[in-house]
Parts: sequence; C-alpha cells; structure tokens
Amino acid sequence: METNESGFRLGLIGTGIVGALHIQAAQALPGVTVAAVCDIDADAAGRMAQEAGAVAYTSHEEMLAAEALDGVVITAPHALHAGMTLAAAAAGVHVLVEKPMATSVEDCTAMIDACEAAGVVLAVGHVVRFGALARRAEEVLRSGELGPVRAISQRRTSHYAKGSRPEWFFDPGLAGGGIVMNVGTHGLDRIQWLGGSSVQTVHAHTWSHGDLLIETDAMGFVGLTNGVKAIFQFTSAGLPYIDETVVQCERGALRWSAPEGLWVSRGGKETPLAAGAEEPVDAFAAQLADFTEACRSGRPPRVDGAYGRSVVAAVRAVYDSASSGQPESVAGDLLRSGR
Ligand SMILES: NC(=O)c1ccc[n+]([C@@H]2O[C@H](COP(=O)([O-])OP(=O)(O)OC[C@H]3O[C@@H](n4cnc5c(N)ncnc54)[C@H](O)[C@@H]3O)[C@@H](O)[C@H]2O)c1
Repeated sequence: METNESGFRLGLIGTGIVGALHIQAAQALPGVTVAAVCDIDADAAGRMAQEAGAVAYTSHEEMLAAEALDGVVITAPHALHAGMTLAAAAAGVHVLVEKPMATSVEDCTAMIDACEAAGVVLAVGHVVRFGALARRAEEVLRSGELGPVRAISQRRTSHYAKGSRPEWFFDPGLAGGGIVMNVGTHGLDRIQWLGGSSVQTVHAHTWSHGDLLIETDAMGFVGLTNGVKAIFQFTSAGLPYIDETVVQCERGALRWSAPEGLWVSRGGKETPLAAGAEEPVDAFAAQLADFTEACRSGRPPRVDGAYGRSVVAAVRAVYDSASSGQPESVAGDLLRSGR
C-alpha cells in the first residue's frame, strides 16, 4: 500500500491521555501531517483537532471513509482495538495500535490476518524499546560484554484505584483485565525483548484491592523459550513509582530503572551508563518514525502484530495460571523465537 507523496496523512482514534503524546510526536516529525482525529467525545475530538490543525470526527468509520489517510494511530479502550484495526485495514490504511494489541489472542490473529490481506502495515505500540535508555540497554546486552542473559526481574508500581485513571480501565469488558493487561504488558515486553525470546510458561498469582472487577496486583514466574527465567511483580498501592528491570547475565548485570537511569555491574561494582528519566514524547516520536518508514518502504515495523500477539498470549497465560493455580503454557504457534 503506497503512501501520499505530498506527506504522510495520519489519523488518530481516541484523543485521550496517550493520544496527546502521539499528536506531539507527529508534530515533531517532518513529512507527517495530522489530518484527522476521532473520539466519541465530540468536545475532546474538537479540542485536539483545533490544537493539531486537523478535522474532528466522532466516528472512526466516517473518518476512514472521508480522509484518504495513510495511517492511523489507535488509542481507544483495549477491547475496541480489534474492530478499529479491521475497519482501517478494510479502508487500506496502515495501523499503529496501542498496547495491549487486543484483549484476546483470537482478536490479535484477526487483526494480523486482516492487515496482511489488505497489504497494510500493522505495528503495535510497545513504545518502551524506542527510548534512549532502552536502546543503550539493548546495545550493552547485544555487545556480549556481559555474556548470555540468564534471568530477569521486573518490578513495576502503578496506583490502581478508582479515580486514578479513566473509568473504562476498571471495566473488564473494555479493559480486558487490570494491571497486567495495562502496565504489565510493558513489563512482559521488556522480559521478552531483553530476554531474547517469548514467554512460554507462566506461574502467576493476581489479586484485587477492594471490590474492583479487575486485578490490581500480580506476581509471577515465567520461562522463555530459550531457557531464560524471569520474575515479575506489578504492585498497585503503597509504593513510590518503581519501574525497574534487572537483567542478570553470565558475567554481570544490567539494571534499568525508568525514573532513575541505567547501570551495568560486574564483580559487585555498579557503574552508571545514563542518569535520569526520559521525555516520553521522544520515544513516541521514534516509534512513529519507525511506523511511517515501514509504511513507506514496505519493511516490517520494529514491533509487528505477531510480537504484539505474543505479549497478549503471555497476559492471558498469567490470567489462566492465576485462575487455575497451576503453571500454564502459551500455545506453540503463538511463540516468537526472535525479538
Ligand atoms: N504506551 C504507553 O506508554 C501508554 C500509556 C498510557 C496508555 N496507553 C494505552 O493507550 C490506550 C488509550 O489509553 P489512554 O490512557 O489514552 O485512555 P483515555 O481514556 O485517556 O483515552 C481513550 C479515548 O478513547 C475514546 N474512545 C472511547 N471509545 C471510542 C470510540 N468508539 N471511538 C473513538 N474514540 C473512543 C475515549 O473517549 C477517550 O478519549 C490504551 O490502549 C492504553 O493501554 C499506552
């Protein structure tokens, strides 16, 4: 599917918190025009359209039919990602869909099939790996200086109480789950990406504060297809912001804390590689640049649909294990051997 020669015409579905970051990223990117935005909340759509110099819609179907878009960014509630992707594919429009790709593996497969059949790019917004710290962490691990990865621990806090985020995040039908489906997808992405293969087995426990219908806390043990082991803990309350990954390798370790920086350690001595938190918009701009380049050139995006599905499959395995009380496996055809 070719793109407009005069510039990449981008549309946005969902003008909420993260939609604003995608718009900022698009405005920083040469050759990209935010042509149209859509939200069922007409005021929100109108405000963002005005800021972006775009046309506002309250129906994504109408926007796709009217606007000759090259690509669309989908930042709506999780359970709506699949239907919106199918609509974009049917209109011949490339898709960058926010994480989690969808709420079920079956929906992910339908999205992959529809985009393949339409010849459009399907990229999934696992934005974490597009930041500067992530790129530096990847360089260190790929250089081999620390030896092979053996184990990973991932810890993340996220205040998960009513009022802390838009109401739909607490609706299992729209959100598909709680802290694991939402922020846990970033942690499971880090484990898969830095560990170098897919989550194959999971033994997890989840629980919920109060009378919420989604889980607010989770912990678990996972095995990747290449033998790397990982533990994760996603915690809802009582702690300051922690988002830390420790990658233990044969000859040392890498510690990556999103708010604090990146360190490498050998022989018990930790050396800083980078300090401080990053501006989120930089990673969003790098992600959008990768997406538009994939659309123009026909090469795959850095994070494709099969990868996005492997993260959703890992989340579903967490839920299956939490409900059965037993270790659970991800089906073989959903695994990815690479990064
Ligand atoms: N990559 C990241 O770091 C990151 C951060 C936050 C959120 N997210 C993801 O981004 C997505 C959106 O999250 P958010 O925090 O921006 O939520 P939000 O509630 O702020 O925004 C969602 C918007 O979608 C709109 N919407 C709902 N139904 C719609 C429909 N049928 N058509 C058009 N618009 C519709 C809502 O009115 C709302 O404005 C989710 O997938 C979330 O997990 C990613």
